[in-house]
Amino acid sequence: MAEVGIFVGTMYGNSLLVAEEAEAILSGLGHKATVFEDPEVKDWESYTGKYVLVVTSTTGQGDLPDSIVPLYEGIKDMYQPHLRYGIIALGDSTYANFCGGGKTFDACCRNRARDVSARCSPSTPAKTRNRKAFPILG
Ligand SMILES: Cc1cc2nc3c(=O)[nH]c(=O)nc-3n(C[C@H](O)[C@H](O)[C@H](O)COP(=O)(O)O)c2cc1C
Repeated sequence: MAEVGIFVGTMYGNSLLVAEEAEAILSGLGHKATVFEDPEVKDWESYTGKYVLVVTSTTGQGDLPDSIVPLYEGIKDMYQPHLRYGIIALGDSTYANFCGGGKTFDACCRNRARDVSARCSPSTPAKTRNRKAFPILG
C-alpha cells in the first residue's frame, strides 16, 4: 500500500475530475490517495518519502492555473532528492504552449526527483491514461 497525495491545478474543474478519477483508481488498487484542491506547501511536505501526483491544466500562454501557483512557487527551489512524483497534464493542442503548465511543473521536479510516471502521448486512450501514470503502483 502506497500513500499518494494528488495535487490539483485547475481553472474550470477538469483537472479536479481527473484527480478524483485517479484517486478512485488508486483506492481501488488498495492505496491511500488524497486529493488537494488548493494545494499548499505543507500538504506537499507531508508526502516526503511517499508519492505525489500533480494533475494540472494550462492557462494563459502556457501558464499554471492560479490554484497551483502558490505550491509551485513554494517548492520550485526546494531540495527534494527523495521526491517520487508523477504528472498528469491537461491542455489543448490548438494552443502554442500545449500542456505548458504540466511541463513547467515537470521540469521543476525532474532534476531533483525520481519520476515514477510513464509519459503518454495525447493519443493515449483516456481510459488507460491514469493507470499508465503510476505503473509502479498498478
Ligand atoms: C484562457 C485559456 C487559456 C488556455 N491556454 C492553454 C495553453 O496555453 N496551452 C494548453 O495546452 N491549453 C490551454 N488551455 C486549455 C485548458 O488547459 C484545457 O481546456 C483544460 O482542459 C482546462 O482544464 P481545467 O478545467 O482543469 O482548468 C487554455 C484554456 C483557456 C480557457
